[in-house]
Formats: sequence, structure tokens, C-alpha cells
Amino acid sequence: MITKTVECPGCKAHISVEGDPGEKILISCPNCDLNGRYTIPGAKTETGSVCIEINNLTKIYKDVKAVNGASFNVRKGEIFGFLGPNGAGKTTTIKAMLGLINMNGGQVKINGLDITRDGVKIKEDLGFLPERVSFYENLTPVQTLNFFCELKGADKSIVPILLKDVGLEDASNRKVGTFSKGMVQLLGVAQALIGHPSTYILDEPMSGLDARWVRIIRDKIKMLNERGATIMFSSHILSEVENLCDRVAIINKGKIIAEDTISNLSKYLHMKPRLEITIKDLNGKVPDVINNLDGLENIYVKGDSLFLTCVSSLRSKVVTTLEDAGFKIIDMRTFEPSLEDAFVKLIEGDT
Ligand SMILES: Nc1ncnc2c1ncn2[C@@H]1O[C@H](COP(=O)(O)OP(=O)(O)OP(=O)(O)O)[C@@H](O)[C@H]1O
Ligand SMILES: [Mg+2]
Repeated sequence: MITKTVECPGCKAHISVEGDPGEKILISCPNCDLNGRYTIPGAKTETGSVCIEINNLTKIYKDVKAVNGASFNVRKGEIFGFLGPNGAGKTTTIKAMLGLINMNGGQVKINGLDITRDGVKIKEDLGFLPERVSFYENLTPVQTLNFFCELKGADKSIVPILLKDVGLEDASNRKVGTFSKGMVQLLGVAQALIGHPSTYILDEPMSGLDARWVRIIRDKIKMLNERGATIMFSSHILSEVENLCDRVAIINKGKIIAEDTISNLSKYLHMKPRLEITIKDLNGKVPDVINNLDGLENIYVKGDSLFLTCVSSLRSKVVTTLEDAGFKIIDMRTFEPSLEDAFVKLIEGDT
């Protein structure tokens, strides 16, 4: 049994809740009467229990195998990134996972329930942001969110709070038909948050948003996760995925080509860190001693900075070789391989 203090999203009062990891607790705020559901966070482990289980999922459109035997798991309590180039099959996978399109084969389980048998029950505790968000143009955002609250059986008093959370409070009386693309996207995010679900599937949640709103959505995802939610999201913004995600799956041409933590991806792709060594009076010339060392790649010089890529164990040899040759090292920085590097290597290796 775990005791947690939860902040009411309405009046910000602190409420104490008790339960086992993964247990969903119905909370009524004693201060403002707002009702909500809270999932007691579970410990994140390497072998955490499974929230979303995809087995051999296949979707064929006429002559296109949009998803070709995809299998992966999203663990309870993790933020999971779903990546792939344009047309790789991300949206098709997500739509099939949610039963929005029929699949040609495979199985999808979310929180232990099968999407083909228990779709309605699954959606009661699921927040979904589609790739192309669209709402009735003649409704205001308040009317829109009220409508979704009714559909989900959620308390409508959350609507003004959600609109404030996504920065649309000033537009709450305007018709959605007058909204910009980014504003519609933000309304879509607010819609996904209704009912405090324990699981979120978001298809490109940051698409079309400026840097400020990307940051707000990022913080929202983090906060939901800290409160125990499991979040799977697709994105083209690899730096965001890198910052946020515990693990990622990469899909290319309908097939899952990797599923792991970002550091493990770099390891098994044998990716090496990049070094930047600042040397006094280098003046744009690569030192001969460096050209003569084995195991160094992508060597170049810009001003007093020498850049090169090598395995970590060669780093000290590079430094001593330079110092022994009389070079004075002022600074040295290491850049670990990025998710973008791993992504490009995986996709290129798969062509
Ligand atoms: N309704 C459809 N009819 C025919 N082909 C489709 C349909 N929907 C998707 N496809 C095809 O399936 C493949 C996968 O598309 P999907 O939209 O899943 O890719 P994606 O990874 O989400 O791409 P993006 O990053 O551009 O959103 C593409 O070749 C696409 O043209
Ligand atoms: Mg897509």
C-alpha cells in the first residue's frame, strides 16, 4: 500500500490517497468537489508489467502493407516513443490499435483487454489524440469539451481548467471553425485529458505547435506520467522524444525495426561518442599526430576546435598524444550519440 499526495487540478488543494501500484482511485476533492481518477504510480522497472501489447499486427490497403507483422510492448508507467519516417505506418498502427480501422491480422491488448472484444471498456480509461484533429466548427471549445465529457461520463467542471491548461481560455467563446491549426491541436490535447485516463495514445501531439506550446505539452506529458499514467506518443521531434521517453519503438515500411531504451539502441548499433577538443592556437589545422592515430573517424577542425568520433576507451590516448606533441588542451566536451543519429543509422541500414 502506497500513500500519495495529489494536487487537485481545480483548486490546487492537496489530497492524500492510498492504494497499490497501478490501482485506480476515484477522488472527490473535499475543497471544490471536483471528481477525478488517479492511478497509483508503480515502480518503473526493466521488466515492468505490460500496459499495451501488440502482437503481429498487420494492415493491408489494396497493394500497400501499411503495417507488416508489428509486435511491441509498452510497459505500465512508461513514456514510450513511436518513431518512423513519413509513411512508415505509425498512424495506421495507432488506428488499428484502437479499433478505428479493421486489422488484417494480429492482436492488441490494452490493460489486459482485447481491443476487438473490449474496445468500449478500453476507451473508458484511455486518452487518444488523433493525427488529424477535427471538431464541429460551429461549437465553441467549451461546448466541444462538454460534449466529450458527456461521451466519457466525466465531470464537466473540469472544462474551464482544461482550457486554461492548454492556453485556450481567452478563446473559450469563439467558434472552433475560427481556430488556427495549432489551437485545434491544443483543443485535441485538452479532449484527450478528459476523465484522467491512466493510458494515453497520442499521434504527433506536438505537431503544428510553436516552441512554447511544445514545451507546455512536454511538461503535461511529464506531469501525467509522474501521476502514474502510461503514455505512448508518435513524434517527428526526436529531441523531444529523447528528453521524454523511457523507451522507443522504430517502425519502417510497416515493420518494427527496433524497440529499446535510447542508450541501448546506441550501444547495439555500436555508435561512438563525438569529441570536441579546444586547443590553444590550433588555428584551423588538424594536428599530424591525430591523423596518424588509428580508430578515429570524422576528424575536422574549426578554428581552435578539433572534432572527432572514437570509442570511449580511445579518449585518453587522444589527449595524451596531443599533450605529448606539445598541444595545450583548453577544454574538452563529449557528445553521446543522439536518438537522431541512431534513428538515421537504423533507417538507412533498413533500406
Ligand atoms: N486509407 C488508406 N488507404 C490506402 N493507403 C493508406 C491509407 N492510410 C494509410 N495508407 C498508406 O499506409 C502507409 C502508412 O501510412 P501512415 O499514415 O500509417 O504513416 P505514418 O507513419 O503515420 O506517416 P506520417 O509520419 O507521415 O504521419 C502509407 O504508405 C500510406 O500511404
Ligand atoms: Mg502519421
